[in-house]
Amino acid sequence: MRVVENSEAPISVRSAIANASPVNALFADRDLHKVTVIGAGSMGSGIAALLASAGVSVRLLDMAGPPADRNAIAQGGVQRQLQTEGFTHPAAAALVEVGNLDDGLQQIADSDWIVEAIVEDLAIKRELFARIEQYRNVNAIVSSNTSTIPLKDLIDGRSDGFRQHFVITHFFNPPRRMQLLELIQGDADREVHVRIERWATELLGKSVVACRDTPGFIANRIGNYWMSVASLEAMKGGLTVEEADAAVGQPFGVPRTGVFGLFDFVGINLVPLVWRSLLGMLPADDAHHRHDITSNSLFASMLQRGLTGRFGPGGFYRLKLPDRSKVDEVLDLQSGEYRPRISPPAKNHAGLRALCESPDPTGNYAWQVLSHLVQYSAGIAHEIADDIDAIDLAMRIGYNWKFGPFELADEVGADWIVARLEQEGRDVPPLLREVAGRGGFRPQGAPATTSREKAGRPIRLAGIKQHTRPLYTNASASLWDSGDGVACLEIHTKLNACDEQVVEALEEAVRLVPNGHRALTVGSVEGRAFSAGAKLDVFIARAEAGDWAGLRSFVSSGQNALLALKYAPFPVVAASWGLALGGGCELMMHCDAIVAHSELQAGFPERNAGIIPGWGGGTQLLLRHLERGALAEAALLKAFNTIVGCDISRSALFAQEMGMLRPSDHVVMSRAHVLDRAKSVALSLAENYGAPQRATIAVSGASGRAALQAKIDVELANRNFTQTDAGIAEELAIVLTGGASTDLQLSETAMMALEIDAIVELAKRASTLARLEHLRSTNKPLRN
Ligand code: NAI
Repeated sequence: MRVVENSEAPISVRSAIANASPVNALFADRDLHKVTVIGAGSMGSGIAALLASAGVSVRLLDMAGPPADRNAIAQGGVQRQLQTEGFTHPAAAALVEVGNLDDGLQQIADSDWIVEAIVEDLAIKRELFARIEQYRNVNAIVSSNTSTIPLKDLIDGRSDGFRQHFVITHFFNPPRRMQLLELIQGDADREVHVRIERWATELLGKSVVACRDTPGFIANRIGNYWMSVASLEAMKGGLTVEEADAAVGQPFGVPRTGVFGLFDFVGINLVPLVWRSLLGMLPADDAHHRHDITSNSLFASMLQRGLTGRFGPGGFYRLKLPDRSKVDEVLDLQSGEYRPRISPPAKNHAGLRALCESPDPTGNYAWQVLSHLVQYSAGIAHEIADDIDAIDLAMRIGYNWKFGPFELADEVGADWIVARLEQEGRDVPPLLREVAGRGGFRPQGAPATTSREKAGRPIRLAGIKQHTRPLYTNASASLWDSGDGVACLEIHTKLNACDEQVVEALEEAVRLVPNGHRALTVGSVEGRAFSAGAKLDVFIARAEAGDWAGLRSFVSSGQNALLALKYAPFPVVAASWGLALGGGCELMMHCDAIVAHSELQAGFPERNAGIIPGWGGGTQLLLRHLERGALAEAALLKAFNTIVGCDISRSALFAQEMGMLRPSDHVVMSRAHVLDRAKSVALSLAENYGAPQRATIAVSGASGRAALQAKIDVELANRNFTQTDAGIAEELAIVLTGGASTDLQLSETAMMALEIDAIVELAKRASTLARLEHLRSTNKPLRN
């Protein structure tokens, strides 16, 4: 919700990218200056957007357009990425220079990496590689994004030098969101693997899985097979779409879309292209041929009727009729006609094995899907990958499964699968038989550690926690020695929510760090959040009891702890990813520096809870804008807008633009490197560190308040605000304009005292308690 116009000059996100990009940050000896991406379709333009978001200069080429606009096709790709949020910030599009193959191919000599992402056609790709060979710089790496064509066929006819610099980098769609990158190394030099793997992981934040040069590589070879089996077995077993998707969803740890929802998402129109191409390359005895969806009559009739899926007029599910009226319908798998959707059966809580053992069609279906998946994966494991970890990892991050096929097998018992396959007279692949005899694919239930590490989890802290004892610990947070004189404060509540014990740990950290450490990082092993904010229960308990003194004391002790952190005699660096909301955002903003994952979601959703930020959120936001040179009134409007609008950043670069991050803060695309990078930033700050000067904040007093009040009145009149919203906005306006003070230069403590008064005033209102309780019980905001 926009309450006031933003009158502050926008920060240059282009320069923010240049300053904060991981290219500069991570690569002191930067060796990736320029990338040329050829093919501006879904994948090529998405890869270009990803690279530009990492701060890399990109040239995007496609076929020449009409004479009036020769670069129209490539430009169209950039436009599509802007519309679909392929860039982490639209300003990154400025790093993409568009061109066409007729006029621009000679220029590729300046590129360190040339990515081919044109139409999936061997002859066309080969012809392009021959042309690339004429112009590429001899050290440049050339990679193809092919999803099915073997590498050896692509490089047929090319020189040794070209082959030694050629790999397949198989990105998944959409490149910004999908973490998996399959790497097929072919004849490339070792130095080439190392370079490309480093760019992909450290620069682009991908998890690289090495694959052998076989059709469909790992994820699609197994994933497409799973889709074929799961759809055809449902039809064979007489299940409905809803029953099948419920059975292969939660019990298997597969996203709720199940299999039919996934077909709708990827597009039924891909069936003839992708599946036929894969089948064409696989040997005749491959199990894919026995579950062949390209010769299934229902898929064929759907294609004939143009039922291409979610982005067409409907697929297995249909939500809109051609006249755009809303329906909720499902395709009957037997008749091929639509009928109303029936709610899926209740969730299965007994586990996958119990489901497979249940003597009904759903139980048999689950067994068919599981057994074929495990049988196939075990049968081809040695052919497609170096180890089973690579396969489990590729399926987890390529298809968003919770468990890979071998993890599923261990879950239900590899020996149990073997016994049942034998009982049914079916083949047992040698690998499956062998592991069944020794307790499973990972005997003691040992996690696939190498895969999990590669999946981008913050491994440093996890390792430290395993091998050392904390310097301090309580139920909600612990202080660790992370080596090299740097301590790490870890919050470990649900979503790292802040409660009294987190505040206590912050106080302890400020006291303990100087005894033997030079700097502090704030990070955790929680994958989803830096911190989702202050614990609602703490507020609710005090508001319900009318314990205003207790509420004051909680807010004030949090403020004191954060100020103590900010003015500590040592540097503090936040390592943040996922959610940094409310109190979590305030904690982050009181650190000297922030190293943020590029997908950071930061902001102040307090209005949804009936309150305003109480730990200096508004104060620090004002300060950040003033630091950037905004005048008092402009800083006020920007901070007010962000907080009252409950704006949450859609990436770290948006957070930088909104003021939560400083332009000097660091953005990295690899989450696995955030904590390490925070530590190195903390160490560099520790050299000659002096605590910052106490800040003063220029507020705009009564005139600013009158301007905000006028805006609030407009929002009320336009019904964008309820009375409750208006009341919250008024309290925020009082805080941000300096309350009743006639002095227009206020200290942080004076501002924060106003925050406490406002919070207590709001907490006394029944409307606030109603919002808090509703949020706690439903996780959704109440618009009272
Ligand atoms: P697309 O059809 O969206 O784009 C292909 C682009 O190639 C178009 O912009 C087209 O103008 C260009 N093109 C066509 N003929 C050409 C020629 N003779 N010379 C130069 N350019 C030409 O295709 P998409 O989906 O982007 O796929 C590109 C590559 O990525 C393919 O190899 C595909 O197998 C692979 N891939 C696709 C994925 C997906 O989900 N779409 C996922 C992973 C890989």
